[in-house]
Amino acid sequence: MKEQLELAERGVDAMLAQRNDRWYPTFHIAARAGWINDPNGLSFFNGRYQVYFQHHPFGTQWGPMHWGHVSSEDMVTWRREPIAMAPSIEADRDGVFSGSAVVGDDGKLYAYYTGHRWRNGINEDEGNLQVQCLATSEDGVTFDKQGVLVECPEGLRHFRDPKVWRMGDTWYMVFGACSAEERGEVWLYTSADMKNWEFDRVIFQDPNPDAFMLECPDMFPLGDKWVIFYCPMGPKPDGYQARNGHNAGYVVGNWAPGGVFEQITDYRPIDWGHQYYAPQTFEAPDGRRIAYGWMGSFTLPVATQEADGWCGQLTVPRELSLDADNHLCARPIDELTRLRTATTDFGAFELGLNADKVLIADGEAVEIELEVDLSATTSERVGLNIHKTAEGCSTFVCYDDLAGRVTLDRRTTGNGDRGYRSAPYPGGDILKLRVLVDRGSVEVFVNDGLETLTSYSFPGEGPRAIELTSESGTIAVNSLVVHQLGTIWAEPDR
Ligand code: FRU
Repeated sequence: MKEQLELAERGVDAMLAQRNDRWYPTFHIAARAGWINDPNGLSFFNGRYQVYFQHHPFGTQWGPMHWGHVSSEDMVTWRREPIAMAPSIEADRDGVFSGSAVVGDDGKLYAYYTGHRWRNGINEDEGNLQVQCLATSEDGVTFDKQGVLVECPEGLRHFRDPKVWRMGDTWYMVFGACSAEERGEVWLYTSADMKNWEFDRVIFQDPNPDAFMLECPDMFPLGDKWVIFYCPMGPKPDGYQARNGHNAGYVVGNWAPGGVFEQITDYRPIDWGHQYYAPQTFEAPDGRRIAYGWMGSFTLPVATQEADGWCGQLTVPRELSLDADNHLCARPIDELTRLRTATTDFGAFELGLNADKVLIADGEAVEIELEVDLSATTSERVGLNIHKTAEGCSTFVCYDDLAGRVTLDRRTTGNGDRGYRSAPYPGGDILKLRVLVDRGSVEVFVNDGLETLTSYSFPGEGPRAIELTSESGTIAVNSLVVHQLGTIWAEPDR
């Protein structure tokens, strides 16, 4: 694999020289250059957090998949690592697809991934052949491929994205599958030795008959429940849901080894924004369940693809929990407060009728913490105009009191795709919006992460302002704090 990896690094070097940083993230993980999609192999190994990701090092479009790699001591400051895996054996000839990593008793990192081949060697016209492979590593940086562990069962059209965990002496692995009846399923296997895997059962079938494949399933405990994350392919737009080309959701249930998964909630989106897909979770050494998602799109062109030399980034790490209604909460991990470099505290105040208040005149990487007393607010919407440039473009994030929703509207965005997305407001008189604005994206956390919205937002040229705005009424602000954020990279890329 050495030769393929050297070639891949040279591919990235060539694009890095051309990289345009106008929208390149300050505090989100992205490749030095080139395309990325799903987070892979999330783990804590060798005293560091390891984040791998689907990576195409030769272009800004999806292509033959490699595993890119970054690592960190604290999930705040990150070090670039060499590309970890490239297609190099027959089984992964057309791609080292998504997968996960766990630490074995022998102290090695075990990376399980899908080896992908197109049957016709070129594209999906005649389908694919997907098998589950293992690669091991002593340092998390260089991997030894161990070949195929699980062949594709007869009749499955898609079979990929192994997610592995351990309970007691047994290892568990779930995959996404497309059944012979074209139903999206999650298959569960078990192993005693990490190498020999046996079919346990189909642990979940999406009740939605439109879902023909469930990509990137994850199955993990949260409190006394089990959660299944999955990315159904096929469902059509349904009101505010399933509006993206690719959508990610979850169900909650009860499960114990050897048993069935008893689903107790309906499918819900994990995040309501335009760009949130293929999330993966892992358990941090202190027991927190942490998720990274991919902020990106397969279906629509992305503004950075044309001339900027990079495409795709991961969300910030989010700590997950369930509330009393088995409703997923996701909030930025506490460590991210260390990224704050300067803070302006606006305190409590009332924003007058139809007013715009500039919170920052030019901010590239900014975090806003806003708390509003809705019982004393008459404004129809509590708005934040972000990425507002002199030409009048901006992205609008708001609580909409008429609709009872929190909306992220890109109708007047500077560049790239438009459209809006909207999450239900969880309720209550105290509205809390925590908004992370990077050079090319926005992440919105509503009421401590009870709902989230994640989208690209590519501003126009010049200073990027953020404003609080009222409409046909006033806003009772309990507190408002704006932080500037520093970079996550230990070393500059060039
Ligand atoms: C999801 C996905 C996975 C696959 C990978 C390929 O985004 O399609 O199912 O393993 O991306 O890059």
